[in-house]
Amino acid sequence: MDILEKKIISREAKICVIGLGYTGLPLALAFVENGFQVLGVDTNRNKIAGLKKGISSDVDINSEYLGKMLESERLKLSSKPAYTKDIDCFIVSVPTPLNKTKDPDISYILDVSERLSSVITQDTLVVLQSTTYPGTTRELILPLFESNGLTAGKDFYLSFSPERLDPGNKIHSTKNIPRIVGGITEKCTSFTKMLFETVVDEIVPVSSADTAEMTKLLENTFRSVNIAMINEMAIMSDKLGLDIWEVISAASTKPFGFTPFYPGPGIGGHCIPVDPHYLSWKLKLLNYKARFVELASEINSEMPEFIVQKVMALLNKYKRSVNGSKILVAGVTYKKDIDDYRESPALDIIGMFSNLNADIKYSDPFVKELTIHGKKLKSVPLTQNTLSKQDIVIILTDHSSFNYDQIYDHSKLIFDTRNSYKKARNKKIYTI
Ligand SMILES: NC(=O)c1ccc[n+]([C@@H]2O[C@H](COP(=O)([O-])OP(=O)(O)OC[C@H]3O[C@@H](n4cnc5c(N)ncnc54)[C@H](O)[C@@H]3O)[C@@H](O)[C@H]2O)c1
Repeated sequence: MDILEKKIISREAKICVIGLGYTGLPLALAFVENGFQVLGVDTNRNKIAGLKKGISSDVDINSEYLGKMLESERLKLSSKPAYTKDIDCFIVSVPTPLNKTKDPDISYILDVSERLSSVITQDTLVVLQSTTYPGTTRELILPLFESNGLTAGKDFYLSFSPERLDPGNKIHSTKNIPRIVGGITEKCTSFTKMLFETVVDEIVPVSSADTAEMTKLLENTFRSVNIAMINEMAIMSDKLGLDIWEVISAASTKPFGFTPFYPGPGIGGHCIPVDPHYLSWKLKLLNYKARFVELASEINSEMPEFIVQKVMALLNKYKRSVNGSKILVAGVTYKKDIDDYRESPALDIIGMFSNLNADIKYSDPFVKELTIHGKKLKSVPLTQNTLSKQDIVIILTDHSSFNYDQIYDHSKLIFDTRNSYKKARNKKIYTI
């Protein structure tokens, strides 16, 4: 039996998870729970200080569970990106954002890989799980690691295994979301599979790291394109005077060949608005224009403007101008029941209303304050008093904890971008 295999089976393998965000932290804790010694590294000192005290900023990780993992003494936490040769398995889960020109910013991956290249030794396994373009692991990381004379698949092992976590999802978590694994060599795939089998029910090996990278981009591009398609359907239905929600509901009765997607105020988070650009950027280098990716991005990013126009028309109908109107946005995160508002369309929408001199407020149980165009806004509670003073309430995120009856009872007018009220619509409630 290989040394690494023995160590994984006996739980003697020391694991280091680099980047303890939405995706790194749950995985690090899953390994701790399953008996491994884990070093969690995150350069955000406040995050590490909080985690050490048992404070979790992740909605899916409750403090009791985190506390238990800390008590086990198998979890060490550090804000110093200093790595040592005694670690057997590194899992890299750092951000992969876009830069200002919407090109991939892989500086985080490169920084970590450069640091790891000096500690990779015989039998070390490195797994990248940050979403990135096909070729990153093979073309960028592999040469760095092999520059010290070691060979992948023989001396050390390197793979790509995308994280598919859906924050806030109560049914699917690390354990029951199948894991795609693609190594630089078969042996790399095999060791990575062995490692993840200790915490995940089903592993799906693929033929290469590039295939694993592309698989993740297919999944996210699939969502981006379908959301864009239904958003455009919503715009077209609006022009035709039809109710898109009724159309989707009717189409969904088809027992095959149709998957419902729903329109909304736009896309957000770290994945759907970002990842497809990794694919189109890579293809641009090969002189190919990824048309679906570009078009989907264009349509989705126009949705906040569409919402603002619809609300303006609605206010106009009731003889009000946006200037001076009291507008309350309910929900600012990019989807329900999570605290992530990165790239959220709510930021654009609030910014646009603010530029139009609306008296804009927001309420979100997950986001205490926001800074938009340099202006700080604080979440207000959804009380009868607050609601009754607004000219319009716009539901941008359909958090489960909102009291929809109360919003309905005390608001003058509601623009519901998520169809939260479903069929119970009347003259007070308008939708996309
Ligand atoms: N959030 C999701 O729903 C999701 C789902 C699937 C995949 N992903 C992908 O996973 C990757 C990570 O995303 P995330 O949402 O967990 O990001 P995140 O921002 O929540 O977490 C990343 C963490 O890495 C830390 N970090 C940055 N540079 C570091 C360094 N050099 N060393 C150590 N730590 C460092 C940051 O402080 C941060 O806490 C991205 O590629 C993302 O596309 C995210």
